Amino acid sequence: MFEFYTLFLLGGLLVLAGMVILPVFFGAPWHPLLPGTIRRILRFADVQPGETFCDLGCGEGRVLVTAAKEFSARAIGVEIDPLKVMLARMFARMKGVDDRVQIVRGNMFDFDPSSADVLYLYLTHQAVDRLFPEILKKLKPSVKIVSYRFCLRGMTPEKVSADKTLFLYQLDKGNKINNYT
Ligand SMILES: C[S@@+](CC[C@H](N)C(=O)[O-])C[C@H]1O[C@@H](n2cnc3c(N)ncnc32)[C@H](O)[C@@H]1O
Repeated sequence: MFEFYTLFLLGGLLVLAGMVILPVFFGAPWHPLLPGTIRRILRFADVQPGETFCDLGCGEGRVLVTAAKEFSARAIGVEIDPLKVMLARMFARMKGVDDRVQIVRGNMFDFDPSSADVLYLYLTHQAVDRLFPEILKKLKPSVKIVSYRFCLRGMTPEKVSADKTLFLYQLDKGNKINNYT
């Protein structure tokens, strides 16, 4: 009995390490969103059918799946935690959109986001600061960048939600990020 509980505890700690500690160490913690918030984000981003919606640090993939299912987008996400990658792939299959949702297991800092029409970020200031400005060189000039909860430092948003939790940036509107061009 004691061994069972020890194994159970160790297993739990490993899962916790994978789902919480690892992401914190590499970029941003996990914080699942309510379905209403997911739809609000996608409507705010004005995702159009056929557009490629990209989520850096996609978690369990629910934003991607909703983008594909309800907004007819192609969706691609990268996630560092293998457990969440598995969940996201399962979820896409369950919802019948696995042909339009691609989940890449990996580090967002090594990920190529050049296919994105909409780049969605729900990260931390530290992670965003690590991504920018390098990521700008890899993005389409027409890309829309939507950040939830964290504004991009030094960059003027095109649009901000009334509750100031969503920020949309468009590079082809002449916006520059501080000295980043
Ligand atoms: C706040 S959650 C956002 C999840 C999802 N994008 C959403 O909006 O529901 C941040 C996610 O980023 C993942 N993450 C953290 N650092 C990462 C990295 N370096 N590469 C890929 N994913 C990372 C975490 O595992 C976590 O699932």
